Amino acid sequence: MAAHHILLLSKPKPKPSLFLYASKATFISVSSPFIRRHKSTQTVASSLGGVQISKQDVVKDEPTNNVPDLIIFTKLGLQLHRRDNHPLRILKNAIYEYFRSNYNNQFLKFDDLSPIVTTKQNFDDVLVPADHVSRSYNDTYYIDADTVLRCHTSAHQAELLRKGYTNFLVTGDVYRRDSIDSTHYHVFHQMEGVRVFSPNDWNGSGIDGTSYAANDLKACLEGLTRHLFGAVEMRWVDTYFPFTNPSFELKIYFQEKWLEILGCGVMEQEILKRGGKTDNVAWAFGLGLERLAMVLFDIPDIRLFWSTDKRFTSQFTKGQLGIKFKPFSKYPPCYKDMSFWINDSFTENNLCEIVRGVAGDLAEEVQLIDNFTNKKGKTSHCYRITYRSMERSLTDKEINELQWNVRDQVQRQMNVELR
Ligand code: DAH
Repeated sequence: MAAHHILLLSKPKPKPSLFLYASKATFISVSSPFIRRHKSTQTVASSLGGVQISKQDVVKDEPTNNVPDLIIFTKLGLQLHRRDNHPLRILKNAIYEYFRSNYNNQFLKFDDLSPIVTTKQNFDDVLVPADHVSRSYNDTYYIDADTVLRCHTSAHQAELLRKGYTNFLVTGDVYRRDSIDSTHYHVFHQMEGVRVFSPNDWNGSGIDGTSYAANDLKACLEGLTRHLFGAVEMRWVDTYFPFTNPSFELKIYFQEKWLEILGCGVMEQEILKRGGKTDNVAWAFGLGLERLAMVLFDIPDIRLFWSTDKRFTSQFTKGQLGIKFKPFSKYPPCYKDMSFWINDSFTENNLCEIVRGVAGDLAEEVQLIDNFTNKKGKTSHCYRITYRSMERSLTDKEINELQWNVRDQVQRQMNVELR
């Protein structure tokens, strides 16, 4: 089942089973352009400044570690949202500009907080229930039992409140085990916003603090949406998040479809109370930057954000939101089907994790195309894997090798019976 990027925490999903990577213990040293080797510590980071992550922070010989090499070596520390002329940075700056001009520079901006956080920050601090699906190993990358790659920027709300900040924006990379298609990727970017009010703000308005904050929130986000999209039709939908009450989702009508663009709400009083703010009321929102950028720049596939191909990167000029991406080519896709009898611990996220581990960004989509249960109660799934490079044509030989490798890994790691 495909998780929804920004709204994962609002959607009930079927209970996943626990799946741990058996072969995580040994670590081969790979010479990746993204790893800078220093005298004693190796950092997994680019030269953009900001967050510095050392390999020891992520590579743990722990049975609970389910972070794949692919993330460690090719994603952590890249900070696309800080890269010059990158569409995510252009979008981040456009949002900053909205807050700067409408709120008199009151919002503090954080875009260099480490994505490595405790389970307390990621879940407990924002009141995610103990049995919530997002805490499972099937959905979240764990470094050890108490440390994760943040699955949302909400992980920083409580700590920043405790530090005394009352108006802030947090931008960062977030990580989720997820399905594979043009809009889902295991790393993406979010921006979180928080604004705290004091009784002075709503006293005299004739309405209570919660209604005051909810009105202010909606006006703020409607203004932001117009700033980014121009005159577009919008719709507010009531929803549920563990950290807000009431909670809303904002949808816009774009290219003949209603598209969810963010989640938000009035912050649960308990979060404020724990942050030492008993008399206050606050709003919060979280938006997925890729989702917005794909629409604003006409970027058809989420993998493109990671491309270093000049034909992609050269199309975006600093500060220009109106640019439309012109696809430089469309190389042919190649489809490969595989069928197997699933077992009780089978999950689609685990399958996708294996496919990504083997094929990386050459995997464009993994789709369930057939599903049946026989008389003996055994269930068979048939998945279609689409392989396609965005930068070149793939050879038959190359694709066949990938597919054999996927089959082999799926059989060995997931213990399923190939058909
Ligand atoms: N953290 C939520 C997610 O990733 C998005 C979100 C919803 C953030 C509501 C918020 C909020 O701050 O108030 O699905």
